[in-house]
Amino acid sequence: MSRITRRDALAAAAGLAAGLATGAARAGRAPIPFGSAAQIETFRSDPRYREALRRYCSVIVPMNDLKWEALRHDRNGFDFSGADELVGFARQNGQALRGHALLWGMALPPWAKEMSTKAEAERELIRHIETVVDRYKGKIATWDVVNEVIAHEPTLDNPYRDTIWQRLLGPEHIEIAFKTAARVDPKARLVINDYDFEDPDPRIAVRREVALRIIRRLKDKGIPVHGLGMQAHLYGERAIDSHGLQQFMLALGKLGVDVEITELDVIDWKLPADPATRDRAAASLVATFLNAVVSARQPKAIVTWGLSDRYSWIEETFPRQDGAKARPLPLDTEYKPKPMMTVLDRYRRGTA
Ligand code: XIL
Repeated sequence: MSRITRRDALAAAAGLAAGLATGAARAGRAPIPFGSAAQIETFRSDPRYREALRRYCSVIVPMNDLKWEALRHDRNGFDFSGADELVGFARQNGQALRGHALLWGMALPPWAKEMSTKAEAERELIRHIETVVDRYKGKIATWDVVNEVIAHEPTLDNPYRDTIWQRLLGPEHIEIAFKTAARVDPKARLVINDYDFEDPDPRIAVRREVALRIIRRLKDKGIPVHGLGMQAHLYGERAIDSHGLQQFMLALGKLGVDVEITELDVIDWKLPADPATRDRAAASLVATFLNAVVSARQPKAIVTWGLSDRYSWIEETFPRQDGAKARPLPLDTEYKPKPMMTVLDRYRRGTA
């Protein structure tokens, strides 16, 4: 183990002070792999979108094509067409892949919503994870094994999201998912992915505690879990709880799990209409959030939920009252980098 001497510490402090005083470029920390979720329809129809994915991303996440809804039109079959196309593209370009998501209470085909017994749910869940993880073994390095399993407003007695998995299998659904993924691809990084970890609100503090407890329980049972994914759909009108986030990062570190940012974008429905003002506010929110995280832990990846404002789920899900187009992402509708991209670049290049 290396020991930091007093002289090292003084030299580092002097260097930092000099850097700050002169504004000289600081040698930043290690670059953080940057990527984006890719939407298959857009990927197929818009060459500029494909070009942007190639140019900016070292990580690709099929946005919807690994969800049950896309893969499992019918109970007996698997349709890998969309996922295969995106996986092929990423591999051609030497980009890493994240798989999203093996278990989620949403985006289920009708037949899956109608499952009615514990045995049936367990059988289907295991078969699904075995088939999907096996197909992409050695190709998809990281999996969101479970997505949004924490209740929106949990209590410590009632921590889980009400989904078909929780109703039929109870809390064990999380263990079954991780155990199965680990068995099929022992080399994969296995992540628990969820939202709402960043604002100063007692509800958020409980959500963080629930995440820690789930991870602790998996670890206690010897079930592999390697990371927590923070979706980070940041609300423009909410503050960032930097201190709370840092504490959370440290607690995750103590449990021996990594952190990654998995679905970053800015919900700008309540930000001012003026595009330049809105873009600056979004960039500043992203900077505050990333600074808080990175000051405590180095995330494994930073992934945005799309790249260009031309296409985003935010528009539909969080529409603005003035009807203006949403501006949640790092590139504008013409693929020009926005201030948010300048912030992300610093992490991508390791100069933050
Ligand atoms: C969204 C996609 O972006 C949309 O295209 C789709 O219609 C619905 O799902 N949290 C998640 C993501 O984990 O899978 C969701 O993605 C956004 C919220």
